[in-house]
Amino acid sequence: MYIKGMHGSQTIGIIGGGQLGRMLTLAALPLGFKVIVVDPGEDSPAAQVGAKQIVADLYDRTALKQLAEKSDWLTIEIEHLDADILDELVALGKPVNPAPSTIRLIQDKYLQKKFFEEAGIPVAPFVEIPDERAANDALKAFEGKMLIKTRHGAYDGRGNMVVEDAAQIKKAFKLFAGKQLYAEKLIPFSKELAVMVARTVDGDVAAYPVVETIHERNICVEVLAPAPISKTQTTEATNVALQAVSMLHGAGMFGVELFLTKEGDILINEIAPRVHNSGHHTIEANHTSQFEQHVRAITGLPLGDTTLSVPAAVMINILGERNDMTKIKGLDKALANPRTSVHLYGKSPTKVDRKMGHITATGKTVKEARARARKARKQLSI
Ligand SMILES: Nc1ncnc2c1ncn2[C@@H]1O[C@H](COP(=O)(O)OP(=O)(O)OP(=O)(O)O)[C@@H](O)[C@H]1O
Ligand SMILES: [Mg+2]
Repeated sequence: MYIKGMHGSQTIGIIGGGQLGRMLTLAALPLGFKVIVVDPGEDSPAAQVGAKQIVADLYDRTALKQLAEKSDWLTIEIEHLDADILDELVALGKPVNPAPSTIRLIQDKYLQKKFFEEAGIPVAPFVEIPDERAANDALKAFEGKMLIKTRHGAYDGRGNMVVEDAAQIKKAFKLFAGKQLYAEKLIPFSKELAVMVARTVDGDVAAYPVVETIHERNICVEVLAPAPISKTQTTEATNVALQAVSMLHGAGMFGVELFLTKEGDILINEIAPRVHNSGHHTIEANHTSQFEQHVRAITGLPLGDTTLSVPAAVMINILGERNDMTKIKGLDKALANPRTSVHLYGKSPTKVDRKMGHITATGKTVKEARARARKARKQLSI
């Protein structure tokens, strides 16, 4: 049983043992926690850094019950799960954070959008499209440019398609056959932003400084901290993110993805109920990393300082360049750059655009940090 301030041998159970589970493990161990993960791949990224692992599918009820038996607190590194099983774990008396109800809401992008819209949080216009005809109607309503998105299971833009005419709609319905879809107006944003928000078991929230996220091929490639935006926009983005996360249940980190429109308005794209790619720089750049903060939040410890401890930081993802066994070259060169850190996730094989690691560089300005991070990225190959 957990005694406040007396922990040391308690165990955190994480559903998923990928790079997020790995960085959570690396944050939990120095606080004296043990970590166990469920992950289908032998020797998962989390297991490689000291987490125990149950090798099983994330939807395996028996394995998740085993995980619960061995853990004092349960959490997740991915939202594509069976929320009903998580409810069963709560019924067994194990705290699951964030709450299964939050995971259920967020894993259906359409329901998530509807929830926020009804709560008065600004989101891009969207509509359900049960068939092609509804999609063609939506395209008219959305002035000829929209995204068709799968409601469930999407990541790194793999469930999205931009459509501008009836032929492309037909193509999207073929590509996403058998999946529930919805349509969203294409927002010609001026920037994409993100705010990491921590939420305690008591529902108190704390925001990290707003960052700019830069995407290519729908994948996050760079994160700039702090976001080069005005004070008003910073306040607005922070307030929208805090307001949205306040409406959810359960503790932990939440990654709030935002659009800054050409008119200067802030819209929510979506929320991830977990540590997030747009918070990786916090390991080097903030007083408390998002990973330590998540551990603190779910175990009932006080939240740490969310502010930047350096003037600026830039994170660049190391995306796989080919489909092959993982071979890293140039680590020596990349690490010769000042104030530059390389994180590798221990994944093999390398696949094109697979997230294999990331680089964070800090500096006096975003420009300086970005030049360092980009130089190091060019010196590495994977
Ligand atoms: N309504 C929109 N208007 C303009 N661009 C959009 C819109 N929705 C999504 N995008 C673009 O596609 C990217 C990925 O979209 P989304 O977040 O829906 O996908 P995802 O599969 O959940 O991706 P991730 O795992 O990176 O969060 C966004 O970051 C943005 O660049
Ligand atoms: Mg997204």
